[in-house]
Amino acid sequence: MLDRGDWSIEGDESAVNAFPAQRTAVVTGVGAPRGIGRVVARRLAREGWSLALVDVRADGVAEIAEELSGSTAALGVAVDITAQDDVVAAFARIDDALPPVVGLVNLAGIACPTPLMELTVAEWNLSYAVNATGSLLMIQSAAKRMMEVGVGRIVNTSSITALDGGGTFSKTAYAASKAAVLGLTKGAARELGPFGITANAILPGPIDTDIMGGKLTDERKADMSAGIPVGRVGQPDDIAAMVSFLLGEDAGYVNGAEFQVDGGKLIH
Ligand SMILES: NC(=O)c1ccc[n+]([C@@H]2O[C@H](COP(=O)([O-])OP(=O)(O)OC[C@H]3O[C@@H](n4cnc5c(N)ncnc54)[C@H](O)[C@@H]3O)[C@@H](O)[C@H]2O)c1
Repeated sequence: MLDRGDWSIEGDESAVNAFPAQRTAVVTGVGAPRGIGRVVARRLAREGWSLALVDVRADGVAEIAEELSGSTAALGVAVDITAQDDVVAAFARIDDALPPVVGLVNLAGIACPTPLMELTVAEWNLSYAVNATGSLLMIQSAAKRMMEVGVGRIVNTSSITALDGGGTFSKTAYAASKAAVLGLTKGAARELGPFGITANAILPGPIDTDIMGGKLTDERKADMSAGIPVGRVGQPDDIAAMVSFLLGEDAGYVNGAEFQVDGGKLIH
């Protein structure tokens, strides 16, 4: 039996179960209309997942929940992932409305373009709160449920910035908080692996969303593409393809790994 004081789980912690036919993926970061989260959610809906759609932007959550509810069971959950009690309450709503949670895709994140010497403690802490602590809180609630099911898949979103120190919209605080996501992923992979739960990290290169300060102009895209061997900026679909693989039942032996999806921008 697993016992963590306030909760416990009966059962054989070494047994890894098959995916249940009805299963839910919790996807954060679905609020931005041009963000990666929505494209991931649409793909997972097509692949048979029920969806808990999480973001701090209530209007965005409602919009994507309505869009997807025609094709799968979809629940919009407006929550700030940095607020522990709210995250716990959000999962109680998910339990009531949807099949068991088997997948978690942590995509909610914020950039921080402030240069190191001008960085305030508030900006530093906010970067960590959303990018690292928010991911942790989502993992804690999701993994508790995955343990009950006996199988689970966690995908975290770091960035190649964690490895190279940053770019225009993502300097030191972003790089450091996204490096924390890598440590979080590896710790989760070690501690949750025995329960049939895998945890992996995706490190996107530049992806054409509004996180870089709005829609990229053709000129800026061309500039950015020049440093990318495949000759283009990434699209949310490029990330969704990797999420789809890592969330799949077949990916059960992939654990604690880092996947750059960057067109070869950072080859090392
Ligand atoms: N687009 C890129 O070039 C790129 C590159 C590397 C990594 N990433 C990472 O990929 C993820 C998705 O990025 P995107 O480009 O879709 O960004 P985006 O800005 O389009 O979407 C991010 C979403 O996170 C949500 N969010 C922010 N703070 C939140 C909070 N406290 N609680 C709940 N939701 C919150 C926002 O409302 C937004 O909907 C992020 O973690 C980002 O750091 C993106």
